[in-house]
Amino acid sequence: MAKEQVLVSGGAGYIGSHTAVALIEAGYDVVIIDNLSNSDMNAVEGVRKITGVDVPFEKVDCCDKEALRVIFKKYPFRSAIHFAAYKAVGESVDEPLKYYSNNLCSFINILELMREEGRENILFSSSATVYGEPDALPVTENSPRKPSTSPYGNTKQMCEDILRDSTAAYKGLKGIALRYFNPMGAHPSALIGELPRGVPNNLVPFITQTAAGVRECLSIFGDDYPTPDGTCIRDYIDVVDLAGAHVAAISRLIEGRNKANYEIFNVGTGRGVSVMELVKAFEKVNNLKLNYRIAGRRAGDTIEVWANTSLANEELGWKATRTLEETLAAAWAWEKHVRGL
Ligand code: UD1
Repeated sequence: MAKEQVLVSGGAGYIGSHTAVALIEAGYDVVIIDNLSNSDMNAVEGVRKITGVDVPFEKVDCCDKEALRVIFKKYPFRSAIHFAAYKAVGESVDEPLKYYSNNLCSFINILELMREEGRENILFSSSATVYGEPDALPVTENSPRKPSTSPYGNTKQMCEDILRDSTAAYKGLKGIALRYFNPMGAHPSALIGELPRGVPNNLVPFITQTAAGVRECLSIFGDDYPTPDGTCIRDYIDVVDLAGAHVAAISRLIEGRNKANYEIFNVGTGRGVSVMELVKAFEKVNNLKLNYRIAGRRAGDTIEVWANTSLANEELGWKATRTLEETLAAAWAWEKHVRGL
């Protein structure tokens, strides 16, 4: 019997490439599309090497609907996972139209084509950013969404709404939004991982680049927050665990185990870790000293957020299993691989 095929848009990116590996390992056929605007073919090569499968890749911009239609005509996938999007919060504030145009058009094109070409299942990459500064912790899927502080965050909320409304209106279309907390780490093979272009915005790549000597010093943004050690708290989830959540969610749709046409799941560990705890854990597990200093608060930062993951644990039958230490060791192994250390 032919394998069930899944389209992975943004599959050359950080989370997309790890998810492509997890899908293939779970027995799915994968087609990767990406415009390579913030990624490169090394990730696709990494996926091929890890899995031993010559995964088809097509260079396509999801904002180009006619080019995307060619992909839909060429491959018989019933399901798609849509990762392709811009994700730099600061840049989105400076260039809102770039974010609205790219993140909304690409998703609308995917949905329109799914409808026009009779495809059924779609996963959308959402973010814990939709919760803003939560009133109560941990956050559940029913915690209120807060007005977004950035165009990037706004596109996540808008795409969730577009998916909710489309799955309500169009018979045969089913969707799940996964709200990621803070992904980090890399595949244990060190063949794929996070490779931000330019100066990293996110904490873990900044840490690993500092350890590798690419950056001089990590700035810890604020140690005067109302948290036990004064630094912000997040729910850091291993990217391989996160990839597994996608397999669980897409399988749920493919096998018709979903309880509604549109569902939302938090994807985190359920554990809050402070910036300082993370830095200390990184130093300890990798046996090195990190050059860091305390800097001022970063505008727009949430003080603390972590997930209640009960719904994903129960409904998806999925749970994050990797420890913080394992993940930080994998992140460092990847950075060393990239730098040839
Ligand atoms: C941010 C976005 C989130 C987005 C995610 C992925 C917000 C509020 N958050 O998450 O929506 O999905 O990026 O791109 O919009 N930190 C330092 N020094 C650094 C970098 C970070 O101390 O050099 C601290 C931050 O202050 C924060 C923590 O590390 O407390 C995590 O930061 P980061 O990795 O940027 O993730 P978020 O801000 O949580």
